[in-house]
Amino acid sequence: ILRTTKRSFCIPKVQSVAAMSTVTENLGSLKQQLEKLFGESLRVTVPDELDVPPIITPCKDLKHGDYQCNNAMSLFAKIKGKVPEFKKPQSVGEAIKNNVPKSDMIENCTIAGPGYVNITLSRQWMAERIHKMLADGIQTWAPKLPVQRAVVDFSSPNIAKEMHVGHLRSTIIGDTLARMLEFSNVEVLRRNHVGDWGTQFGMLIEYLFEQNQNWEAAPTEAIGDLQEFYKQSKTKFDEDSGFKERAQKAVVSLQGGEEKYRKAWAQICEISRKEFDKVYERLDIKLEEKGESFYNPYIPKALELLSKENLIEESEGARVIFVGGIKRPLIVVKKDGGYNYASTDLAALWYRLNEEKAEWIIYVTDVGQREHFEMFFAAARLAGWLPAEDKYPKVSHVGFGLVLGEDGKRFRTRSTEVVKLVDLLDEAKNRCKEALVERGKAQEWTGEELEQTAEAIGYGAVKYADLKNNRLTNYTFNFDQMLNDKGNTAVYLLYAHARICSIIRKSGKDIEELKKVGTLDLAHPSERVLGLHLLQFPEVVEEAVTNLLPNILCEYLYNLSEDFTTFYTNCQVVGSAEETSRLLLCEATALVIRKCFYLLGIKPVYKI
Ligand code: ARG
Repeated sequence: ILRTTKRSFCIPKVQSVAAMSTVTENLGSLKQQLEKLFGESLRVTVPDELDVPPIITPCKDLKHGDYQCNNAMSLFAKIKGKVPEFKKPQSVGEAIKNNVPKSDMIENCTIAGPGYVNITLSRQWMAERIHKMLADGIQTWAPKLPVQRAVVDFSSPNIAKEMHVGHLRSTIIGDTLARMLEFSNVEVLRRNHVGDWGTQFGMLIEYLFEQNQNWEAAPTEAIGDLQEFYKQSKTKFDEDSGFKERAQKAVVSLQGGEEKYRKAWAQICEISRKEFDKVYERLDIKLEEKGESFYNPYIPKALELLSKENLIEESEGARVIFVGGIKRPLIVVKKDGGYNYASTDLAALWYRLNEEKAEWIIYVTDVGQREHFEMFFAAARLAGWLPAEDKYPKVSHVGFGLVLGEDGKRFRTRSTEVVKLVDLLDEAKNRCKEALVERGKAQEWTGEELEQTAEAIGYGAVKYADLKNNRLTNYTFNFDQMLNDKGNTAVYLLYAHARICSIIRKSGKDIEELKKVGTLDLAHPSERVLGLHLLQFPEVVEEAVTNLLPNILCEYLYNLSEDFTTFYTNCQVVGSAEETSRLLLCEATALVIRKCFYLLGIKPVYKI
């Protein structure tokens, strides 16, 4: 790349400049582009009204148009009487329409009802836009967000206790949000805020010492099944007061940094970590562990800062913060002088804001923890660590509902024990494998293909069943439903994608070559509907990620596959006169579907 201050002496190579501009060019979503055009129109139409943002929405009924501008009515109410030529909202709409700058993007606009401007996009422009994405890559359709670095705090199970379905939801939702942010060119710090510093460690360590003198030589054997070990030590803690006292002393020794205690603690954490990793590995989740213990050294300083703002007071022997509107205070130092979940979260927030310079910090936990988050967010706001809620740096609690079993109660296995997540995932995979074998795939495919496809479908189904619901609602875990190949399931969607790939394969055409020499047209109404849907991908991802709602992307994906089916039913692809154009439309659909899968953490399959 030629970069020089003496511009006039240097003629850049045309090719490299062109290549550069195509890689980085991102025109924004359809909605943003229309907002820009109608924003300009509004400035001309009502020059005295400076901050009227254009209101552009997709048309509900495509018969009227593709998008609409909804400003006329509210604008008329605002300027009534001030501008004599505007006698009715319709005349405002008319003026907005006439003042839109000329653009290749718009075919025509019409006025409907009390001044809505219905916008029909140019078919040719739409086709070119899709073709350009095929040439430049789908990254050029990435949304633009106003932040550069974000923390997503998700999964975050507790050491030695079980990792339950709630943590599975957090893992799946958090990973998707991280992926959507990453796609939007945000640097994401994926944080596993594991509970590795609670008082339970005193009990565990003391139990380990007393049960097995030899623990240092073979800690894994000494502990065995960690959950069982936890249960036993808890029973002893509850029943044996002498042990309870020794356990409480052990916490002090651990937190004081005594070598032997630190070592035992590290061993216990390591065993837990190995268990968690099995789940992450199956689900292809990347996470960086910074557990509660990591923030422990930062707590005194964080509390000191809050003290300086006169936020901390004494209450029944504890040190607490009262935040507006909530009766119960936030306890930051317990009666016994120890720190807790809240003091850790305050220190972690301080660290994320000041050391990691995160502009958006997102916490994914069950809705039951909402008050905890509201309270410490409020405390941080009172201390001046955070600006007003709509400004950055911003904190968001992403709450989610319960996972229910068939009986409508909290999801458990028959033995009323908590479900082991690894077993759950294995079952999803095995059921898929059986279904594939039944369809004769064991003969058709290699063993590896069978395994990989079963895994992609099984794990994908578990993820999608979770993500397709609004996260705040409880959802019922049901293998038969999520593994159904009809309806709104990952199985159906994965099949739909594989079918598109097979259409392209069976055409015998070189799609890369077609991208270069072919042209795309959206002549048939079903092609146009599908094309519009594809073009809306950037604004849908933007909406999903800014509102932290993965279900918005799932709904888009499902509708996209429905639009494809309609297209494929109405339009012959292979062997038709429009074959090239239609194959390109298939390819664009497959690309967008794959990107949706990627963002949802689902691995695509190419044949079925
Ligand atoms: N370990 C907690 C739990 O299992 C979740 C931690 C969430 N993150 C946070 N910064 N508080 O409930």
